[in-house]
Amino acid sequence: MTSKFSTHIVEWYQLNLRDLPWRNTQNPYHIWLSEIILQQTRVAQGLPYYNKFVTHFPTVQDLAKAEEETVLKLWQGLGYYSRARNLLVAAKMVINNYNGIFPRTYSELIKLKGIGIYTASAVASFSNNEPVAVVDGNVYRVISRFLGIFTPINSTEGEKEFKKIAFSLLDTQNPATHNQAIMEFGALCCTPKKPNCLFCPLQKDCYSFRKNTIDQLPVKLKKTKITQKHFSYLILKNKKKEIFIHKRILKGIWQHLYEFPLVVNEKKTPVIEIVDAFEKLLEIKINLGELNLIHKTDKPHKLSHQHINAQFFEYVCNCDINRSDFIKIKIKDFENYPIPVLILNFINQHPLE
Ligand code: ADE
Repeated sequence: MTSKFSTHIVEWYQLNLRDLPWRNTQNPYHIWLSEIILQQTRVAQGLPYYNKFVTHFPTVQDLAKAEEETVLKLWQGLGYYSRARNLLVAAKMVINNYNGIFPRTYSELIKLKGIGIYTASAVASFSNNEPVAVVDGNVYRVISRFLGIFTPINSTEGEKEFKKIAFSLLDTQNPATHNQAIMEFGALCCTPKKPNCLFCPLQKDCYSFRKNTIDQLPVKLKKTKITQKHFSYLILKNKKKEIFIHKRILKGIWQHLYEFPLVVNEKKTPVIEIVDAFEKLLEIKINLGELNLIHKTDKPHKLSHQHINAQFFEYVCNCDINRSDFIKIKIKDFENYPIPVLILNFINQHPLE
């Protein structure tokens, strides 16, 4: 069955679609890469990442053989690095459990690491025309506005309700095109701010257009509490142009990225206390008079759950660090390591030498 809704948006899509590389393929591996990247960023920023991944790892076999660090380096800048680590885990699962043949069905895709309901639906419908409806942020917005649904989209009830509606609107004969169309329509016409209602093909039947509720929908519950953090990094250099870095092992968005020795505080802390913390952490003695503050961020670096105010100190000494979790590297080699964008921005402004 084709709903009137689907006919309208598919007609709109055929006139307005962007020519994007993952739309010209049915290769489930390439489609999967694009979908994981697009969960992290917009199409314009995601495109170069997609091209880099497909060029570096043309097949799932190539990806499965990669070092985690290479994958993290290619992903650098997208944030949420567990997605990149999961890419590698999932590629290995495809080699070991599926003989290297990337699955195309929802029921197999959902078993792969890092693939949830959205990604499994997207890959299964785009690569295999399986009649499963995708529900992403665009779809929530289009449906909530068009039908006037005020259930919060991030509540359990909302997830169920929107999924049911998305399936009832799906063109089961052409699920791939229908799904691309509704997402593209949300991205380009029914946008979060200033939607283009004047040229909207659904205008006549749209609840929100008639009732003037566009700005109220979709409803989203505020769940995450954002905490402020104060990060102090120490660039500990010696005369041989070497520095000490450390691989983050703690769970969290920067897991397995590299960084300088770090002290974290919940609030602004006097330098003397920070130095004390570095001395304990690194088991060295720091002469305060020779410590240089070389950079302070002027606005916080924003992550989903944290706003980070960062400062970077430099200290030149000939000390060695006995802790095995710190490695000593040549400054010039630092660029080869995957690092958080917060540190990347810093070294772009203050190249290490
Ligand atoms: N966002 C998520 N998936 C997408 C796709 N396949 N095309 C464009 N934008 C998207």
